[in-house]
Amino acid sequence: MKPLSEQLSKVPASATLAVNDKAKALQRAGRDIIALAGGDPDFATPEHITEAAFTAIRNGRTHYAAPTKGIVPLLEAIAEKMSRENGVQVEAGTDIIVTPGSKWALFLALSALLNPGDEVLILEPYWVSYPPMIHMAGGVPVPVPLPGENNFAISAEILRARITPRTKAIMVNSPSNPTGRVLTEEEAQALVEVAIEADLYVITDEVYEKLIFDGRRHLSLASFPGMAERTLTTNGLSKGYAMTGWRLGWLAGPTPVIKLATRMNGHTITSAATFTMDAAVAALTGPQQAVEEMCESYRKRRDFMVEVLNGIPGVECASPEGAFYLLPRFPGIPTSSSIELADLLLDEAGIAGTPGIAFGQSSEGHVRFSIATAMDELERAVERLQQVVPRLIA
Ligand SMILES: Cc1ncc(COP(=O)(O)O)c(C=O)c1O
Repeated sequence: MKPLSEQLSKVPASATLAVNDKAKALQRAGRDIIALAGGDPDFATPEHITEAAFTAIRNGRTHYAAPTKGIVPLLEAIAEKMSRENGVQVEAGTDIIVTPGSKWALFLALSALLNPGDEVLILEPYWVSYPPMIHMAGGVPVPVPLPGENNFAISAEILRARITPRTKAIMVNSPSNPTGRVLTEEEAQALVEVAIEADLYVITDEVYEKLIFDGRRHLSLASFPGMAERTLTTNGLSKGYAMTGWRLGWLAGPTPVIKLATRMNGHTITSAATFTMDAAVAALTGPQQAVEEMCESYRKRRDFMVEVLNGIPGVECASPEGAFYLLPRFPGIPTSSSIELADLLLDEAGIAGTPGIAFGQSSEGHVRFSIATAMDELERAVERLQQVVPRLIA
């Protein structure tokens, strides 16, 4: 047989697969496993959004969308939202494309920007899918390790140290999966300064934008002077609106980039689902109370989990500023890797978490737990950790 795609063969296998597979096998064998490895809200999609989709389907909105890059009311709702909430001015007709999930928006952005061998800086710990996506788009991911001892803070010096003549873009994710960090004004200024001086594009993944705690403010890099022409913003409804299964996201940015992205979209997936786009209009223009309530629930879960985890000797857990993940360390447990650590927590406590190495070397020694999980499950998880961790330390 002739060889398969070299390009795809270069894509690294998922470091999370082994633990997930084992967790599923244990569940099938009847073991009570608490699943904290996912990233899917446990809340139902708010009813007015679901109703808008039912109405759309009943009204025959089940054909190809027109225009395929997004129905006009949705493009307008996104432009209006970005102007109002993010201080970013984009033209609904030329600067936005609606995608089936923000993941595809990220891939479109990379595909529109990269030539073979172009380097893309990714802030480490990074979201697992960034390196594979960059590889698939023909680029080279270049991790920029952020200092764990300084709460993974970004500085201009750290960024400059990784820039080469091949550097084309930086990917930024705030609030961050997995660290829960939210960009500060100072960090945003550092990113802006370096992006402009090195003439880089910035891809900013804002999918956790609605989930920010303690009165912090979300900063959109495209709103900074000199950034609109080089910033590609991705966002979507999955996380904030509990709409992961609807597959609805968008890419917004300079017209030439959106033109190429639209061409690629048209020849691959055509469009997001038509009735999902109708539901998205309801989500963006309707009442936002449910989003605020879900965010408040995540905050309560965060406060509960961080306090209890830090009370267990041998466990350290920073308090995330946004998103719905915790990234504790277990310095008291003698293991050689986060894969071994996650495996041990699965075997001994029946808790499935994601090994930190999935997000790069900077989060080795950590395990990521999702708090997009009902409170009673989280209570069961910490009870088990309170019993098991002291035994694993001893
Ligand atoms: C950081 C980050 N970006 C993007 C996505 C993709 O989300 P979706 O494609 O559902 O919009 C996820 C999902 O887990 C994520 O964690």
